Parts: sequence; C-alpha cells; structure tokens
Amino acid sequence: MPRRLIEVDLPIKEISAHARREKSIRHGHISTLHIWWARRPLAACRAVLCAALWPDPADPACPPRFRETAAQVMTRFARAVRQSSKLAGLCANHWSRWNRLGQDGFSGQEPESWKDLRGALLDFIADFANWDASTVPEFLDAARILTQAAHEALGGAPGTRPLVVDPFAGGGAIPLEALRIGADAFASDLNPVAVLLNKVVLEYIPKHGKRLAEEVRRWGAWIKERAEEELGRFYPKDPDGAVPIAYLWARTIRCEGPGCGAEVPLMRSLWLSKKKGRQVGLRLIPRGDGSGVDAEIVEVPTVSQGNRRGGVYPHPEGTVRRGSATCPCCGYTTPVASVRSQLKARRGGAADARLMAVVTTRPGQPGRFYRLPTDEDFRAAQSAAEELRRREAAHTGPLSLVPEEPTPNPGGHRAVSSVQLYGLITWGDLFTPRQVLALTTLVRLVREAGERCRAECDAGLAEAVTACLGLVIDKQADLGNSLCAWEPFAECPRHLFGRQAIPIVWDFAESVPVSESSGGWAPLLDGMIRCFQSVGCDWRIGHAQPASATAHPLPDDAAQAFVTDPHYYDAVPYADLSDFFYVWLRRTLNNVQPILLGEATTPKEDQAVVLHPGSAEERAEFERKMQKAMEEGRRVLAPAGVGLVVFAHKSTAGWESMLQAMVDAGWIITASWPVDTEMGTRINAMGTASLASSVHLVCRPRENPDGSVRQDAIGDWRQVLRELPQRIHAWLPRLASEGVVGADAVFSCLGPALEIFSRYSRVEKASGEVVTLREYLEQVWAAVAREALAMIFDDPDTAGLEEDARLTAMWLWTLSTGANGNGTAKALDDEDSEEEEEDSGTSRSAGFTLEFDAARKIAQGLGAHLEDLGRMVEIKKDKARLLSVGERTRHLFGKVEGPKPARRQPKGKQLNLFEQLQAAEKEADWGRLGTPPVGGTVLDRVHQAMILFGAGRTDALKRFLVEEGAGRDTRFWKLAQALSALYPAGTEEKRWVDGVLARKKGLGF
Ligand SMILES: C[S@@+](CC[C@H](N)C(=O)[O-])C[C@H]1O[C@@H](n2cnc3c(N)ncnc32)[C@H](O)[C@@H]1O
Ligand SMILES: [Zn+2]
Repeated sequence: MPRRLIEVDLPIKEISAHARREKSIRHGHISTLHIWWARRPLAACRAVLCAALWPDPADPACPPRFRETAAQVMTRFARAVRQSSKLAGLCANHWSRWNRLGQDGFSGQEPESWKDLRGALLDFIADFANWDASTVPEFLDAARILTQAAHEALGGAPGTRPLVVDPFAGGGAIPLEALRIGADAFASDLNPVAVLLNKVVLEYIPKHGKRLAEEVRRWGAWIKERAEEELGRFYPKDPDGAVPIAYLWARTIRCEGPGCGAEVPLMRSLWLSKKKGRQVGLRLIPRGDGSGVDAEIVEVPTVSQGNRRGGVYPHPEGTVRRGSATCPCCGYTTPVASVRSQLKARRGGAADARLMAVVTTRPGQPGRFYRLPTDEDFRAAQSAAEELRRREAAHTGPLSLVPEEPTPNPGGHRAVSSVQLYGLITWGDLFTPRQVLALTTLVRLVREAGERCRAECDAGLAEAVTACLGLVIDKQADLGNSLCAWEPFAECPRHLFGRQAIPIVWDFAESVPVSESSGGWAPLLDGMIRCFQSVGCDWRIGHAQPASATAHPLPDDAAQAFVTDPHYYDAVPYADLSDFFYVWLRRTLNNVQPILLGEATTPKEDQAVVLHPGSAEERAEFERKMQKAMEEGRRVLAPAGVGLVVFAHKSTAGWESMLQAMVDAGWIITASWPVDTEMGTRINAMGTASLASSVHLVCRPRENPDGSVRQDAIGDWRQVLRELPQRIHAWLPRLASEGVVGADAVFSCLGPALEIFSRYSRVEKASGEVVTLREYLEQVWAAVAREALAMIFDDPDTAGLEEDARLTAMWLWTLSTGANGNGTAKALDDEDSEEEEEDSGTSRSAGFTLEFDAARKIAQGLGAHLEDLGRMVEIKKDKARLLSVGERTRHLFGKVEGPKPARRQPKGKQLNLFEQLQAAEKEADWGRLGTPPVGGTVLDRVHQAMILFGAGRTDALKRFLVEEGAGRDTRFWKLAQALSALYPAGTEEKRWVDGVLARKKGLGF
C-alpha cells in the first residue's frame, strides 16, 4: 500500500508557527462566526489533510501517475513563485527550492528526483498552512489538482474526489479545510449547535456565496431599525446627548456581621477605567445609618497617587475576595457559604442587582465617560422589567418566552458547577430582565425577518439567512448576560466565554443592544458580514448532519479518509456549555430547523466526555464510546484509506484511554506528529505543566480483506521491547530540533511507541501471557525518561547520579517549554484565579507541580518510588509537587532526619532564606564549626550550595565546596550545569545555581 506523505514526514515546526499566528487573527476568521470551544487552527488542519491525502512520491509503491502530476504541478507552482512577488513573499522560507529549478522543472521519472519532489510537496504544504495563503488561487489550484490526482491514482473513479469524514466536527475546521483542498466532506457532531455551525460553513456559505452576506446585511439592518424603535426607550439618552453604552451592576447581599445587616454590593474591583493616563474608580461611602453604602466616582491621575492618598479607595480590591464579602460599614466578612445561600435564594441576584454606574459616550468626544445612575436610569430598567412581565403573561406558544431549561447540575463538570450553586437554576436566570427583554425581542424579529425573506427569495437562501441571524443573537447573548465582567483596560464588557467555563461574576456590565458599541446588534452584525467577506466562499459544498460518532450514518467503506479531533477526555463539557446558546437558537430557529432543534437541550447521554477525571466508571464509559466511535470510523473507511486522529490532553489517563480505544478498535498507528498550537508561555503561575501540542495520530485499519479486524498478528514482547528504545532514541532529538520538549515531547512519544505495539493484534510474553497496553505504556515512560536524561546530561550513562538527581532533572525537563514558551511564569488572569482559588481553597505555592500520575510514571521509569521521596516531593490529591530548593533548607541543614515532608510555614510567618538557614543551623548546632553537614547525595549537596549562595553565606559556601570537598566530585558540577539549563528563567533556583557555578573557576575546580 503506498504510503502517504504524513506517514513519512511533516514540517511540524512551520505548521506550528502558522497555527499559532492564526490564533491571533481576530477578524474574518471562521471562528468569529460563533464560539466553539477548542477549535482546531485551520492551518494545522489544512496541512495534515494535504499530507494525509497525497501519497509520498519517494515511496516506490507510489502510483507513477501521481508522481507525474505532482511533478507538473510543482513545476508550474515554482514558476508562479518566481513570477509573482506576492507568492514569493508567501514562499520566502523555501525560496531556494522554487528558484533553483532549471527549465525542466521537477521530474517524476527518475528515482533520484523523487526525494526532491517529496521535499517540494512538503515545502508547499508548509507555506500553504499560512493563513494568508488560504485564499490564494495558485495554492488552491495546485492543492486541488493534487488531491484529485492522488484520489484517482489510488483507485478512485475518474472525476470523483476523496471523501473526508469527521464525526466530531465541532466548529468545522477539518471538513472546511477538506473542502478547501478539493476533497468532499461529511461532517457530523452530536451537538446541534455544532451541526448548525457546520451547516453554515460547509453548506450555506459555498451554496449561496456573496448573496448570503448581502441578504444577512439587509435583514440585519431591518431588524436593527425595528429593535431600536421597540427597545430604544429602555436605554434613555442623557439630557446632554451622552449615550449610555453599558450599565454596571453589582449583585448584593446583606452583611451578616453582628447587628449590621447593611446591603453590600459585591464588587471584585472598584476600577472603572485603568486606561493609561485616565484612571477612574468607584468609592464606596458607608451611610450614616448603617444601611449600606453610597457610591462616588473618583478620577485619579495615576494609580500610585490614588493608592498613596489611601483614603481614595477604602476597598481598592472591591468587596469580594474568593467568594466571601467584606462589609464596608462594619468590616465583617460574610463567608462564601452565606454569600452563596443569600444569592441562591434570589436566583443569583441578577434581577435585583444594584446599578452602580453608567458608562456613556459623547458625540464628537473620544473616550468613555462614567457617571452615577440617575432616577431616569432606574425608571428605564424598571419599566423594562414591567414590559417583560407583560409579555410573559401574554406569551403563548410551545416554548416559554424566557428560557426555563435547566442550567448544568452542580455535581457535573467543574467548569460549569458554580452556576446552580449561586441559584442560577434556569438559563434565563443568567440574564437581567432588560437583557431578556432585548434578546426575546430580537428572537421575534429574526423569526419575522426570516419569514419575510422566504417570501422574497428561495427557501434555501432564507434558511441560511435566518440561521446566520440566529448566530448573531448568540453573540448578543454571549456579550449580554449577567456574567459579563467589565473590562477596565479596554473599557467594554467581557464576553462570557473567554474560557471554556461558566464562572460566576459578581459585578457585571450590561451592554446596550441598540448601541453602536460592544455588545450592540449593529457591530455584531458587522462582524459577521466582515467574516463572510474575508473568509471567502470558494469551496465545494459539503454535508453536515447530527449524529453520534458511535453510530455513524455512512455505509461501510464509504470514505477515503477518517480525520477527526474527538473530545479530549475531561477537557470541555461541550453539551453543558452549548446549552447556553442552544436555548436561544431553539427559540429563534426551530421553525426552520425543526429536527435539529427539536429537543429541550443538547444531548448529553451519548456525549463522549469525562466529567469527573477521578471516576473509574466514567473512564470506562469514555473508553467504550471512543472505541465504538473508532470502530465506526474504521468501518466507514475504505480498506486503503487513511485515518488521522487529533488528541491533546495533559493527563496520562486521557491519553491511555484514547490509545486503548484506538488499539481495541483495530487501528494501526503508522505515524504521529505534534503540532504546537498555543501561543506564548505555558507554565502557569503554579508551575504546572500544560500542553501546547496536539498530537496527530496517523492510522490505518488492521483489517482482513473482508473488513473484519485481523486477529492473527502476534507480536513478541522481547522484540517489542528491543525496538522501543531505538524508536525513542531516534525520535526525541527530532522533536527537540523542532522545538518540542518537556511534557509535549513525552506525549509525542506515545505515537511512535504505539507504531510498534499496534502493528500486532496482540503482543505476548514468552509465557503466552498477553501484554496489556497499560503495561506497555509503563515501559514507554521508562524509555522516554532514560532517553531524555541521556539528552539532558549529554551522556548515555546517567547511572552515576542518584535517583533524586535523575528524578529532579526529569521533572524539570517535563515542565520545560520549547522555543515558543520562554519558560517564565505567566501570571494567571485575575478572572481565572478568582474561581480557581475559591474552588480549591489553596493558594499558589512555590515548587514545580506535575500531575501525580505523570510524576509517578517518571519516577517509576527511573526506578524510584514517589512515595519514598517525601524529602523532595509533596503529594496532594492528583498533583505532585517537587519542593522548591528553599523549602528543603531544614531538611538539608537542620536536624530533621530521613524522609520527612517539609512543612510549609504558616501564613504570615514566612521566614526568608537567611532566617530559615539560621534556624536550621541552631537546631543542628553546626554554627560553631562554621561548616554545615554535607548532604548524602549529589543533589543534596548541590541544593546545599545553592542555599548557602542564596542566603549570602559566601564563606560557608567556600568551605563547603573546598574544605568539605563537595566541589571535588565532578558529578556535582555536572548536575549543577544540567540544573542551570532546567530551572525556569526567573526562578530563585536558576539564580542560585548559576551563582554556585560562577564560583567554580575561582575556587580552582
Ligand atoms: C474537540 S471538539 C471538535 C473541534 C473541532 N475540530 C473544531 O475545530 O472546532 C469535539 C467535538 O466532539 C463532539 N462530540 C462529543 N461526543 C460526541 C459523540 N458521541 N458523537 C459525535 N460528536 C461528539 C462535541 O460536541 C465536540 O464538538
Ligand atoms: Zn456589616
């Protein structure tokens, strides 16, 4: 069977760079049509699809016809590159390849030139991944010819195209790119919101082309006019002509301090504007009668001045911290449980929140203006609520006017568990009455526009137009609910789904749907039209339909490629999140999409997701569903077809489940490629490994000619174990050269390892015992750890170092980031940390944290046991933390003997390193001698030296290294050198170990 390009090579570094860049494109990208969580970058999809569909011309089994066409197409392309400066710019990285070509061009005839042809195709793919190349005709034409030629050469009927199937289609990135490069696409997803997005992208846009944008614009404007007429009075302008663009509200509670009972507005921050040069905040002033607070708006020229004056902001931090609320009147802090129960009793308290301030713009004046609310503002909000009540009473029809469908159960996924805890029981509870009034008005207007449109043009176009307008309502909802915080830097409301969760927000910004500002209908509509314009419409019409991947609608052998990006274990609770949109879409579009939007909420039962990562039951269920889905993929794939499964997850359990499913479903892994799609740094403030790469597993069916899974290929365990280290030995340096290191590299090794294991129906030991995948993966971790260590120490034999040194090195390496992450700690976004801190009740700590299971596997691979390493590792729930060097002071210098976990100092009594060292010195009484006891292992000694340096004990350090002889061990310097490369930049550890290393020469070592 001819190998595909992707089974031989892939320019992952360039693809990754394009994928990362694409993430910063905010306008005109398909992702701006609607939120979908964890979308795959188009760059990566485009590249891997080309490489999966096109055979490798250098493979002797490659059909000569394809080589011929490829040579012609590449020759033509090279010529075009030389002639067009635009193309030359896009191909600058490979200019020499296109330019050195003589008159004859590429050749498919002589075997000597095949490698060059392969190189040309790979370079083409790398440059085509660029967002800017995605609509360039020369790229598109070349790609489409190659796709068709490959298909025909591989046995497809003349004139047909290969069919790419994606049963977890989500936002549609994979099927869209399949269409773009000239394949056919069949997209399905369990989730109706995802299916609707796929319909827009794969069916409506290519079918109706520019006409769609025109009609959406026209009917959008029609709606705007009517919405303004109907809703304008609920957002009154100021007498001086200023226009409100946002209302800032705070949920409130009653202070539970003894005898207090004041109303406390819950505000996370009192900042209104943190714009450079113009800073505005709120000041809360306790009322004399103790009933609560009044507010005042204060402008401060700079933050520092504001702070220095002290009295300006009694609570510069706001009144809520980690969910508990501090009363500005009496100072009492009402605990989080009470805050919750008070809000719970009022369905979250959005409907009776307190209006704190109004943001306006003034005609002809730049910037935003802040004022306190007036009676007119209160009256307007009041009358909106009354109007809503009237409409609710008058409302008839099968669906409630305001969404009454339930929000996610608090026992569910952590990302959505807080809504009900705060009493937001129905999706309608997420909105204030005025927000609901606006949304329900728009829903009605979109329905009406759709009907009018149908009366004027054909039903197909009307369906498409209505769907797109329905998506604008979703955007409106995303920016117009009571969980939108005010963003003081950009001075606009933040949309709800900044991340893949629904976190509670105390003080929120209500945008104005009839304004021209953020959250207004008009700018949202404009955004959609702009997207249509720049995204193009030049691709074939695909097909989208709802279906579970576990019961695929296509017949056997229908597809040439099975390319998919399934759910990542417990990463995103898609069904729960998407219900937020679904309830509105259903009200807007159920007349045009009656089947798709027939149920009350999105299906949850069949979803392949783990809600609680600790649950063995859910894990088993996930594996079962994934296996079924993978079996279905194999079934619908033609025998000579190719599979490609994307997976990105940072837990070992997630990976094992996925791989198990693939192996059990009868797939052979034939290649695997990490593509790094995340921007910037990846070690968050807690020093936890987070993955940037998603691994693309290339696979082929392990089948008999009749389509059943082959059961007769038995592998020999010894042989497998012999091959494994060789494979890892070849692969890790390649990854490193592409900038893939650390946890990304570890997970990227699972693919190649599986290439060996999955070749066989089963692998047996000499005794006949069958080797489980889990057992094999333990061996993989060990092989990776050994190989990585050899790389770190630049020495194949690292046996001279004790286990603690090897574990530390491997641990830090796992946390390290490649060329893209610069290793400095990134501060967690304030908004994020609020919830996380509240949930976990722990604050950040020093040290280096890994998922427990990963740490355990690394340790095991090095022949160590985490549980015995209490002197350096702290285990807490599912996390393992390598203690910071400072925390080891007492163990290394004091009297504490044996493995004993260092206790963290109680808050507020944090000793600095110098003091800690002094305390330890006193405890062990070595001060008189002036030289500390010398630690038992090389690592202990390096850490001791680092601490002495860090505490400024220069003399003691010298004695320790010279007189006590710690520095005479060459292993000491070798380890110090390695650690210097491994400790993240900006950490104390890095500074200290470099300080020690700087002494080396001077002390004569
Ligand atoms: C990682 S997302 C796909 C993202 C997509 N590649 C993109 O770029 O937007 C996984 C998808 O699997 C869907 N899903 C979960 N369980 C499913 C099932 N049993 N059948 C079909 N789709 C399912 C989810 O709704 C989600 O859209
Ligand atoms: Zn109080």
